[in-house]
Amino acid sequence: MKLLVCGGAGFIGSTFVRQRLREFGDEVVVLDKLTYAGREENFHDIREEPGFRFLRGAIEDPEAVGEAIGVHRPEAIVNFAAETHVDRSIAEPDAFVKTHALGTHVLLEAAREWGLRYVQVSTDEVYGSIEEGTFTEDSPLRPSSPYSATKTGADLLVQSYFHTYALGVVICRGSNNYGPYQYPEKLIPLMILNAIHGDGLPVYGDGMQVRNWIHCTDFAAAIGYVLEHGRAGEVYNAGGPDEQANIDVVKRIVELTGADESQIEHVTDRPGHDRRYSLSSEKVRTLGWTPKVRFQEGLEETVAWYRENKWWWDPIRSGDYREYYEQQYGRALSS
Ligand code: NAD
Ligand code: DAU
Repeated sequence: MKLLVCGGAGFIGSTFVRQRLREFGDEVVVLDKLTYAGREENFHDIREEPGFRFLRGAIEDPEAVGEAIGVHRPEAIVNFAAETHVDRSIAEPDAFVKTHALGTHVLLEAAREWGLRYVQVSTDEVYGSIEEGTFTEDSPLRPSSPYSATKTGADLLVQSYFHTYALGVVICRGSNNYGPYQYPEKLIPLMILNAIHGDGLPVYGDGMQVRNWIHCTDFAAAIGYVLEHGRAGEVYNAGGPDEQANIDVVKRIVELTGADESQIEHVTDRPGHDRRYSLSSEKVRTLGWTPKVRFQEGLEETVAWYRENKWWWDPIRSGDYREYYEQQYGRALSS
């Protein structure tokens, strides 16, 4: 297939691009604005693959989108482009509204004009928090943060293009991803790097919030199944095989890095913090998908990857991220 992958320079997008080029022989054109989270380094090993192209541009820019499609003529758009950090959405929601509402609209219009299949990459956070049981695709949408509310708005707009214009859209909602190339603002890479550097490990509130972890290669594969086999107009959940309380994840990272449990600090909780996410993935399993990586083995590999790839995270940890960290946590990183 020939794909236009928006937001392909980010964590999961670049994982998907690598998979499609290497395992499926697809041609991939990446359109990415390169925000703080988008990094060309994420393509270091696939830049020279035949069939890979990179274009810098924003999804809310109709000219950039029109040119990417007009010149490269993809068969489908897969949209990963998003602002993805809940804490940043609480501090400064503006970019979330712009990218998720306007950006998604521009892409949908382009898909309509050129008659393209469209995959929206979405999140379990659209359902809100669940104390017990698990969310299905029919669960009510009850987002809590500006991040999840704007992602929900984008999902609703995507579905409206199926109902109104019969556009071939599908939505894939994932649970919490982890793995290589994840920006260190997120729980797992933040804790790994802080643990290695002897910095504090800031656990929000009591640390008993539960997340349903999925390895990024498993989520990327689920998106591939939905792209190839999903029914137009449908939503598919893709949740990981394991649920873990945050505090247990952090304690395991302490063990794997040889850090000290005294580095763990319980800090002020995130406002409106969702207690638990849990997704049923029965529907996407009917397309043939199944997750392959269990959390304990995936976490061990992820810790090893961060240890071995200082070249990747050092420029982040010594750049603008330091300023963000200080604002968010009220203290500086050590080095
Ligand atoms: P990320 O923050 O690592 O990457 C986002 C990418 O989008 C970056 O390359 C960035 O430059 C690009 N981008 C942002 N705004 C853009 C714009 N206006 N135009 C073009 N490009 C833009 O994110 P991620 O964790 O890889 O998440 C990718 C997608 O998966 C998002 O849609 C997110 O909501 C969804 N998702 C993420 C997770 C998770 O745990 N990380 C779980 C479920 C779903
Ligand atoms: O569930 C899918 C979502 O997972 C994605 O849609 C989002 O893009 C992604 O950022 C992620 O959202 P979370 O808010 O769950 O992820 P985060 O890594 O920010 O936090 C995971 C949990 O860890 C959450 O309960 C908050 C907690 N946490 C996080 C950080 C950064 C801490 O206790 N301390 C921290 O410093």
